[in-house]
Amino acid sequence: MPIRRLPDNLVNRIAAGEVVERPASAVKELVENALDAGAHEVEVVLRDGGRGFISVTDDGAGMTPEELELAVERHCTSKLADDDLVRISTLGFRGEALPSIGAVSRLTVTSRAAGAEDAWAIRVEGGKPYPVEPAARDRGTRVEVRDLFYATPARLKFLKTARTELDHAIDALQRLAMAHPRVGFTLSDDGRNHLRLPAAAGEDGGAARLKRLAAVMGKDFGAERPAHRNRARGNAADRLHRAAHAEPRQQPAPVPLRQWTAR
Ligand SMILES: Nc1ncnc2c1ncn2[C@@H]1O[C@H](COP(=O)(O)OP(=O)(O)OP(=O)(O)O)[C@@H](O)[C@H]1O
Ligand SMILES: [Mg+2]
Repeated sequence: MPIRRLPDNLVNRIAAGEVVERPASAVKELVENALDAGAHEVEVVLRDGGRGFISVTDDGAGMTPEELELAVERHCTSKLADDDLVRISTLGFRGEALPSIGAVSRLTVTSRAAGAEDAWAIRVEGGKPYPVEPAARDRGTRVEVRDLFYATPARLKFLKTARTELDHAIDALQRLAMAHPRVGFTLSDDGRNHLRLPAAAGEDGGAARLKRLAAVMGKDFGAERPAHRNRARGNAADRLHRAAHAEPRQQPAPVPLRQWTAR
């Protein structure tokens, strides 16, 4: 067989397989984007465990219409300011997540940049981008993912029940929420609330972290010593508890978004 260069659409779908394995991976990528955008509140709404619908809404920095067009293209990122792969302080940097999700679903990104008067939306269906259109929303971004894997039926077949996919999504969000106690998170599925983690306000860093850990892991984490000595979880739980009570480490300074517009 002759060697041939694969069309972009196919390349994107193949690459998408590495980034998006199931609804929970899309939730993780989208929430990471919201956190990188400096969101204080992140709302995740699912239907059918995320198999039919996922939306992630944030109150972060938002995007201009020009940025929206770039955001759904592969290898476009605002997070590598100077091509330095060693000093990375954001959760994402590959410029892969949105184009990958767009390659295997019906994706809509609606956004209003901080200080902008208008909101704009872009749609990508099975890898095909549509022109940016005017839209309505407050500051921040909403990403909606419909019919995940409709464009890759083999992947669709391997999705588990809605309950199992929902559990994976809750787990993914809880992991991110534990590391970001100053951000509020909610997750609902088919209209039912499954997670409500209000943003810690006022407390110092250590207290905020402990409170969030207690909200996710159970209230024993708020106690001076963990009450549960369950053999299976005890050691890991003890380690987490010690880490939660330890002095907070210095966080790296965040890289400003939208570097390309400054060039
Ligand atoms: N919720 C959001 N708010 C503001 N900007 C966003 C948001 N989501 C994406 N973006 C912008 O779109 C770009 C592309 O997002 P995408 O997730 O595809 O790549 P990335 O986050 O840069 O890297 P990675 O593929 O590792 O996640 C981001 O670099 C960011 O500038
Ligand atoms: Mg990302």
